[in-house]
Amino acid sequence: MSENPFLIRGYKSGEYFCDRDKETRAIVSNLQNGADTTLISPRKYGKTGLILHAFDEIARQRLPFETLYVDIFATLSLDDLVKTLAEAILEKFPERSSIGRKFMGLLKGLRPILSYDPITSLPQVQFNFVNTSEQEHTLKSLLTFLNTQKKQVALAIDEFQQITEYPEKNIEALLRTYAQQMRNIRFIFCGSKKKIMAEMFLDANRPFFSSTRTLALDKIEYTVYADFIRERFEKAGIPVEEEALRYILDWTRRHTFYTQSLCNEIFAAEPQKVDIAAVNSACLEILERETTNFLQYREMLTQQQWRILIAVAKEDEVEKITSAEFLMKYKIGSATNSRRAIESLMNKELILENTGLEKTSYQVYNVFFSRWLAKQY
Ligand SMILES: Nc1ncnc2c1ncn2[C@@H]1O[C@H](COP(=O)(O)OP(=O)(O)OP(=O)(O)O)[C@@H](O)[C@H]1O
Ligand SMILES: [Mg+2]
Repeated sequence: MSENPFLIRGYKSGEYFCDRDKETRAIVSNLQNGADTTLISPRKYGKTGLILHAFDEIARQRLPFETLYVDIFATLSLDDLVKTLAEAILEKFPERSSIGRKFMGLLKGLRPILSYDPITSLPQVQFNFVNTSEQEHTLKSLLTFLNTQKKQVALAIDEFQQITEYPEKNIEALLRTYAQQMRNIRFIFCGSKKKIMAEMFLDANRPFFSSTRTLALDKIEYTVYADFIRERFEKAGIPVEEEALRYILDWTRRHTFYTQSLCNEIFAAEPQKVDIAAVNSACLEILERETTNFLQYREMLTQQQWRILIAVAKEDEVEKITSAEFLMKYKIGSATNSRRAIESLMNKELILENTGLEKTSYQVYNVFFSRWLAKQY
């Protein structure tokens, strides 16, 4: 059996990556023209993949940038941020490289405890800060180190919205100040919480207001994704029927992660050909495997929220969550009830709000969960 060409985590190379040509060019062009970028999309559309793909392109074309990717999802404070940045730099520039040696010199002056994770063997840095100004000083030293490299540095900070959760209040202003001072670093700020990200970058009262170019990642186009899927299967000698492609892309709403997962599942079943039956059986397989997880949600939600979740799933997509028709059909009660439940489901990232130019609509965020709810109830 050949290697599964449908990745469900991480980034390998352009070979496994569908499209995003326009977005990749935009990121590279921003870097070349001295602009910082804010990359926003719902969860699992492929933001992280896109950044890594753009960095891959930069390496492939030998463009004069050092690229550095930092994921701050797990950080809870300025302390964590400094630690995570230091570890990312250490990992990127190993001690045997000349940049790495210089960095180690700098780091030792900051008196950290260095160790290696026994499982991943990645470097781990522990600082013992006595006060906030020491943390700020260290953060500045790290950025200054990047800023003084021969090549410009493209620094991607993934899950950037996380800084709004830190107990320290001035982090946005602090980072904005540093970002302005570091002329040799081009930043890519990435996040999936649209509201928080939009407030940070589009609100005139916030430090980062209007300081970057926004790139909103959308779904991959139908025909482009269909060609990608067909080619990957055919390369492995598996023919694909047109209607099966349509089924895959509709059922997963072209939401990248779910489309990749379904294709991965179909491929893993080693079908003779990809037809409706092969797709259908993979869909059922996925829903069955996820059932225990999905049932957990019922415990976490109020009856009202659960009922609305089912209603939205059954409709697939709802525009008027307070219309009499919708409320009656699913016995939801008042419009206020409905609005309140939707709000709280959005906060839990169980409902996705799609805001377009013409309309706003709501869907169950996790596509598989949506399909499961619609089928089960
Ligand atoms: N253009 C693409 N072609 C094929 N697979 C992709 C593409 N973009 C992303 N993927 C795959 O889809 C999945 C989700 O992508 P990724 O993690 O980049 O999304 P994300 O937007 O960063 O998600 P999150 O919001 O959870 O951080 C991954 O398994 C990745 O391998
Ligand atoms: Mg990501």
